[in-house]
Amino acid sequence: LSGDLERAWRLMREVPDFPEPGVLFRDISPVLADAEAFRAVVYGLARTAPDADLVLGIEARGFLLGAAVAYACGTGIVGVRKPGKLPAVAHRVDYDLEYGQATLELPEGTVAPGQRVLVVDDVLATGGTVAASSELVRQAGGEVVGAAVAVELAALGGRERLAGLNVHAVFTV
Ligand code: PRP
Ligand code: HPA
Repeated sequence: LSGDLERAWRLMREVPDFPEPGVLFRDISPVLADAEAFRAVVYGLARTAPDADLVLGIEARGFLLGAAVAYACGTGIVGVRKPGKLPAVAHRVDYDLEYGQATLELPEGTVAPGQRVLVVDDVLATGGTVAASSELVRQAGGEVVGAAVAVELAALGGRERLAGLNVHAVFTV
């Protein structure tokens, strides 16, 4: 690990029983707040798919990383959102979370047919969120060329669920 990645690793927080009992929540907020750690993680993510021509960030922490990754890659950014936030929805997908049920929506006028899309988020847990986001890209006619996350929770099997997808994690726990 580079010094700055090591710094990022040390800045990650573990919060027991959030958002509900039994879940050990990995919180990257202090990593994002540190200039060197943030930059190291963003460049780590940006290396995943050099051929991407659009980045998709997943609400909410995926927005913070995704926009920075898009800027580093020289691409645009799309925010995939929780239901009820978008004025114009192109596609909607329901899926299961580590803790409960969720829905994600893709804004109109973003992913164009044939675009090569890199999906970015803070944490890969069960993989449901990345799978749902990938499904949204496919519904719009785009191609998912990779998924980049800051932290992969290996025990939750997200990588297996996403078999066939180019998944890159800066850190794996
Ligand atoms: C978290 C995390 C990922 C997702 C990972 O989001 O930021 O998006 O869960 O879980 P999965 O791999 O099991 O699908 P959360 O639902 O906490 O939403 P938030 O970012 O809006 O707080
Ligand atoms: N941190 C952030 N998001 C998550 C986590 C976590 O530990 N588990 C599932 N989604």
